Amino acid sequence: MPTISGLGSSPFAGRGKTVRAENAVEIQSDAPSTPRKRILRSNAVQQAGHISPNPSPNSCSPMKLKSPRGRLTDSPSSPANKVILVILFNFCIDMEQLSMVKEAMHVSMAPSTIVCREYEQKRILEFCKQCVKQEKAGSLYVCGCPGTGKSLSMEKVKDNLTHWTKEERFPPLDVLTINCTSLTSTSEIFSKILGNNQARKKTSSPTSPLKHLQRSYSQKLQSPDMKMMLVIADELDYLITRDQAVLHDLFMLTTYPFSRCILIGIANAIDLADRFLPKLQSLNCKPMVVTFRAYSKDQIIMIIQQRLRVLPYRVFQPQALELCARKVAAASGDMRKALCVCRSAIEMLEAELRDSTYGLDLPSVEGGFSDKRTGASCETWIKQANSIVRVDHMALALSKAYRSPTVEIIQSLPQHQQIILCSIVKLFRGAKKDTTVGELNKFYTDVCKSTLIPPAGIMELSSMCRVLADQGLLKLGQSREDKLRRVTLKVDEADISFALQGVRFFRNCLQ
Ligand SMILES: Nc1ncnc2c1ncn2[C@@H]1O[C@H](COP(=O)(O)OP(=O)(O)OP(=O)(O)O)[C@@H](O)[C@H]1O
Ligand SMILES: [Mg+2]
Repeated sequence: MPTISGLGSSPFAGRGKTVRAENAVEIQSDAPSTPRKRILRSNAVQQAGHISPNPSPNSCSPMKLKSPRGRLTDSPSSPANKVILVILFNFCIDMEQLSMVKEAMHVSMAPSTIVCREYEQKRILEFCKQCVKQEKAGSLYVCGCPGTGKSLSMEKVKDNLTHWTKEERFPPLDVLTINCTSLTSTSEIFSKILGNNQARKKTSSPTSPLKHLQRSYSQKLQSPDMKMMLVIADELDYLITRDQAVLHDLFMLTTYPFSRCILIGIANAIDLADRFLPKLQSLNCKPMVVTFRAYSKDQIIMIIQQRLRVLPYRVFQPQALELCARKVAAASGDMRKALCVCRSAIEMLEAELRDSTYGLDLPSVEGGFSDKRTGASCETWIKQANSIVRVDHMALALSKAYRSPTVEIIQSLPQHQQIILCSIVKLFRGAKKDTTVGELNKFYTDVCKSTLIPPAGIMELSSMCRVLADQGLLKLGQSREDKLRRVTLKVDEADISFALQGVRFFRNCLQ
């Protein structure tokens, strides 16, 4: 069986050109890099002959540097050592930058500006302002799929509301944020609310917290300085009981004549309100609903770019970001997932950079240094060291995050079987949904030839199709002649494209 040289191999491979060591420094300073990198790198070039190469011990442990440093030649000012020092220096900068990007992409890192949720925040804030202005209780239900920015936006609204009440000289609000998952029992929410009320009153009562609240909101017993209270009940789904009594009682608290409670419930279920709404509606207690829609591809890109704006360097290839956003938007529109995939892609790049410094064949630097394992030239190495998350990193991170048995099977197939699937996807573009082994063979042969890969013969192709059919990826019809057997796909074409994205050959082929 012929093999494909270069397929799935290191990005170093395939470049035979070597560059002399003296030139390597020039190549580095010419290589596309950010202004900060350029400044740091040109300093490194000037100082390379006589300084320690490790600028940031925190981001780059001696262990990681061991391999190349251990092979420095005797003369510190030799061209070979200069190149090594520059490479190590760049490696440290790259690692430091990547770790800063990872930090900026962490879900726990609250962004200073929340883009793409301006409308939803405005509606919630306006609702709260109206309640405060009219000194009126009210309820609002925020719903939407996971990772759509509900909790994040609510935090922002809370801050803006506090700021607004101060500015407008309204009495400050009592704010209580409860994550319902942390309650030991569903009814504990009432003691939390009462606890907040009673913190100032210091009264104790044998009646249940709910009864106590109901009574105090029904009568004009409250002290005149009783503040309005904003209750944010996040993960409200946890309060669902069989009879929905807790939810019902909670929302009803805002309907009592002397209630001063502004209740905002947050949950995933879009129909949670509808499920208990009829009862509430008949009692004249219909919460306003604000729905957070799943993020679109463009919104995901915009949010990521906003989070990275503070950093003065580019880390993602635009196509890689687009791939991530497209897949996450199609799957769930969950921003948490998008951030997680991006961080995982960065980790793949970090591992690649670490591996590549290990493999340097430093003694050959004098004569135009190269990577020992792959034979890559200095120029290639430097390009590689230009730390950018590429489409193949992202595709791998996505396939880890969205593990699908089909995608995994396709990714582990021998290369010629992958070419067959790739040929079928190309062949089926448009209305065509089946072909014959004979026609597939022509297409497969063309794909192989276009990339100088020796194709397998039709007999081999036919037996590979049988293997693919056994794996449940293809359906093969019956015919006396092999080349007349009908071939149809049994898996989604998108799964094949997605599974093969990580290999440049297939990416080009499918474009
Ligand atoms: N508009 C946005 N801008 C920046 N980051 C965002 C945005 N929306 C979501 N995120 C990121 O995604 C994470 C998840 O968002 P959030 O916790 O608000 O989701 P949620 O809708 O409350 O999800 P769940 O229903 O699972 O509680 C946030 O911590 C934040 O890092
Ligand atoms: Mg949340």
